[in-house]
Amino acid sequence: MTRPYVASRADEVLHRRSFDVLVLGGGIAGMTAAIGAARRWRVGLLTQSTLEETTTFLAQGGIAAAIGEGDSPGLHFEDTLKAGAGLCDEEAVRVLVNEGPDRVRELMEICPRFDKVDGQIVLGREGAHSLPRIVHAGGDATGSEVTSALAEAARLGSRVQLYEDEFVIDLLTLEGRCMGALTLNLADGGLTLNVAMVTVLATGGAGQVYGRTTNPAVATGDGVAMAYRAGAAVRDLEFVQFHPTGLAVPGQKTVQLITEALRGEGAYLRNAAGERFMTAHDPRGELASRDIVVRAMVAEMRREGTDHVFLDATHLDAGWLQQRFPSVTAGLREHGLDLATQLIPVAPVCHYFIGGVVTDVWGRTTVPGLYASGEVASTGVHGANRLASNSLLEGLVFSDRVVRDVDRYIGRLGEDVRRLSFDIPEAVMRGRSSDAGEARRRLTGIMQSEVGVLRRREDLQKALVELGELTSEIRFDVMGEAEYQVLNMLTLGTQIAKCALLREESRGVHLRDDFPDVDDERWRRHITLRLPEHERSEGVGEVRRRG
Ligand code: SIN
Repeated sequence: MTRPYVASRADEVLHRRSFDVLVLGGGIAGMTAAIGAARRWRVGLLTQSTLEETTTFLAQGGIAAAIGEGDSPGLHFEDTLKAGAGLCDEEAVRVLVNEGPDRVRELMEICPRFDKVDGQIVLGREGAHSLPRIVHAGGDATGSEVTSALAEAARLGSRVQLYEDEFVIDLLTLEGRCMGALTLNLADGGLTLNVAMVTVLATGGAGQVYGRTTNPAVATGDGVAMAYRAGAAVRDLEFVQFHPTGLAVPGQKTVQLITEALRGEGAYLRNAAGERFMTAHDPRGELASRDIVVRAMVAEMRREGTDHVFLDATHLDAGWLQQRFPSVTAGLREHGLDLATQLIPVAPVCHYFIGGVVTDVWGRTTVPGLYASGEVASTGVHGANRLASNSLLEGLVFSDRVVRDVDRYIGRLGEDVRRLSFDIPEAVMRGRSSDAGEARRRLTGIMQSEVGVLRRREDLQKALVELGELTSEIRFDVMGEAEYQVLNMLTLGTQIAKCALLREESRGVHLRDDFPDVDDERWRRHITLRLPEHERSEGVGEVRRRG
């Protein structure tokens, strides 16, 4: 499942755009890269939906940065490393914590609505941070506030050309170098070759691979899948972070996140018997790192034979809860729940992909001309377990670095790239056409039940057999967004299951029922995947010089 497809579309006229820098993705990483690069270069920013349909937009907790009194990048470094369970890249973490405070201060200039009291920024606390260091906006509406501010900066204040509703089918590569991307316009169905000297992949995560997720509908892992097809190294795919407190009620399309900041402000976790259980698992109680909280919840749910525990904020002031957590309270109200007076049913939910496209500390991937930033990237800062609220920070810091680095490609290739012309070879798939919706239901069912939060060898082996069957059965005569997404999700789901089976230990967010301990001797290392050269996207994604 490595080749990209443009079935039945290959004879169509291709539109064409050319940029110095092409940014794929409209979350914090994409917009930061686009706004920064547009100070010097012609920039195209492509988003699959709108700037509001991103994981960034849904972020509640905030952004971690060592800006408070008594805090320091050194303390933030230690907390990040400790949470990362032995797999953080120390150089990358040093970059994150040292450059983070300046990037956050710059963001505050663009986004004036970060929460303050008497002119002083308010810092929240979240799990495994040794002191309060999370800046937030609109209480728990950090993502939407930051998105509005960055979108305004991108639309008004800079020369970013924004294209919404553009689904990226594949990266364009020529002789192993990335030259842009082929996209499908979701409004008119047109195909466009977006040719660029530099491409920045900022397409976010892949929570939809599990179906039950806090991520938006666009989080189908397309970026990792296409980078893999293009020959980029990807790693740590088995490290899928489940957030402890997703709302556990049926019938939600995107699972309502109940921010960790609530526990930071004193909310408790209780089991079905009404007992607080976290202090028996970790002295930090509800503010232990996410992996530890999830393990404890799973143990408790198993013991009690339930599928959820409860979050209890009933001892906190009702008026203050409403003011500090307006998004959570409004979301719960839609389900007939009241944070101030009721226990809220919660269960771990797929939230964040720690693994992704391997980059160095400048965001460079292993494919020349291709950068990656944000959730799609694996910079190494999260190790085996991401520290809460380090993700928006990662996007800010590393996209800024990408902007500072891109000259190396733009300068070297000059006008050549813009003059290249391309053919896309036909790649029609023939046979009975499958139903993308049905394929997706099968895939997410397998991932949720066999590759979920607690893993076992037999389940993972079964998952691989079932995913293999699905892959060999699937045939699409006509390709659209849903079909491309299923193929990408299958690629990613299969690799997640393979890596999860290989890693015979429990580390960070990767929990093996049959290997409950950390095994430093064998597994204090990454699992990195790279397609052999002859399997790389030589087909549709590969562009060829005419003549
Ligand atoms: C949350 O608000 O709990 C999510 C923050 C994060 O995932 O970093």
